[in-house]
Amino acid sequence: MGRTMRWKNDYSHYGAITKAFHWATFLLVVNQFVTALVMETRIIKVGGGFYDWHKSVGLLVLVVVCGRLIWRKASQLPEWAEGMYGWEISVIRFVERSLYVLLFAMPVSGIAMLLGAAQKVPFFGLLHIPAPAKRIELLVAIGTLVHVVAAYALCATIAVHVAFVLRRHWYERGGYLHRMLPFSKDD
Ligand code: HEM
Ligand code: HEM
Repeated sequence: MGRTMRWKNDYSHYGAITKAFHWATFLLVVNQFVTALVMETRIIKVGGGFYDWHKSVGLLVLVVVCGRLIWRKASQLPEWAEGMYGWEISVIRFVERSLYVLLFAMPVSGIAMLLGAAQKVPFFGLLHIPAPAKRIELLVAIGTLVHVVAAYALCATIAVHVAFVLRRHWYERGGYLHRMLPFSKDD
């Protein structure tokens, strides 16, 4: 109560910057899946600007994930919550690593796909990676394959991540969720 805001992580808590990165990533990734669903199913008619939005926000994911990873390496990580099982920590650690790998694989494969197809990569109309002169079919094939496979893997991994968080929060009565929530009561 009445404490000043914690910006950095300390031994027992995630700080505001880690939390901001976490939930910004979450919103951006939700945007990517929703826009992808619209692009793939065409449930509503959309123009090229919509595709550019998916690509631009996808690039932003790359920027945010880089920032996030640097911050994670530069700052101390809090201790694990009390009473966690050894196997649980192993799963969570593996899941977190996988999330980072997949969050890189998505934008990088997206970029590969576009450059391979001799298309420019837009970034909110501010700037863009220029289109190469020629198509490179191998790059298109690999980029597309990785983008699709990693998208399913990311969905599954997020599901496991959330399942583990909620399991601990509800069944172990640890009040675990507050570790990553902003303005949580013990902050
Ligand atoms: C796009 C979806 C998500 C991604 C990519 C993601 C990724 C991560 C990562 C990488 C961490 C480790 C800490 C860090 O490096 O910052 C983490 C921690 C955490 N996440 Fe998520 N997350 C997502 C969605 C969610 C959701 C929906 C919830 C809540 C239901 C959640 C709750 C938590 C909690 C409580 C922690 C702290 C775990 C701990 O270290 O004790 N996350 N998340
Ligand atoms: C975290 C970031 C991203 C996520 C979660 C994501 C997710 C998806 C998903 C689920 C699809 C539909 C199925 C598939 O092909 O996998 C898709 C399609 C696509 N994505 Fe991404 N994407 C991301 C970033 C990017 C980036 C950075 C670019 C390009 C710069 C991009 C370009 C595309 C393109 C061109 C398609 C195919 C659209 C079509 O022609 O129907 N994506 N994305």
